[in-house]
Amino acid sequence: MVKPDGVQRGLVGEVVSRIEKRGLKIVALRMNTISQDHARKHYAEHAQKPFFKSLIDFITSGPSVSMVVEGKNAVAVMRSINGATNPANAATGSIRGDLALDTGRNVVHASDSPESAKREIDIHFKESEIINYSRMDETWIYE
Ligand code: RTP
Ligand code: MG
Repeated sequence: MVKPDGVQRGLVGEVVSRIEKRGLKIVALRMNTISQDHARKHYAEHAQKPFFKSLIDFITSGPSVSMVVEGKNAVAVMRSINGATNPANAATGSIRGDLALDTGRNVVHASDSPESAKREIDIHFKESEIINYSRMDETWIYE
């Protein structure tokens, strides 16, 4: 997900480009302002944390771009593309290491396990919104 700070700063293309260039495949993509209900479900693991309210207020504050990304080791690779949660600890070359300074404005989100990915995809996308390239004629993909 490109969070509202990333959208506001015009970094959607930058984030999408890094994902595509790494070789991961985007199989669903949407820009919308996430509802309070979806945000609370999405970040349910943090419900008891002191930053929960500010996190929900921020993530629902404006449009964000949600994606489903597919590929070999997609979860681990996506986390390394994003970099450490606190941008101060994020490697240069990662999105947060190159483009962010504050933990609360760290530009991107990614699921932290395949189980979280499934749970989060179910919150943000209907099955019919996710492309299944393997069902498509190869000429359509490469023409
Ligand atoms: P994300 O879920 O957004 O991909 O980030 P993450 O896994 O790297 O970090 P996580 O621990 O899941 O935290 C979710 C988001 O909450 C904000 N946060 N603020 N101490 C704090 O003030 C604090 N800790 C976390 C960050 O925006 C983080 O991305
Ligand atoms: Mg997380």
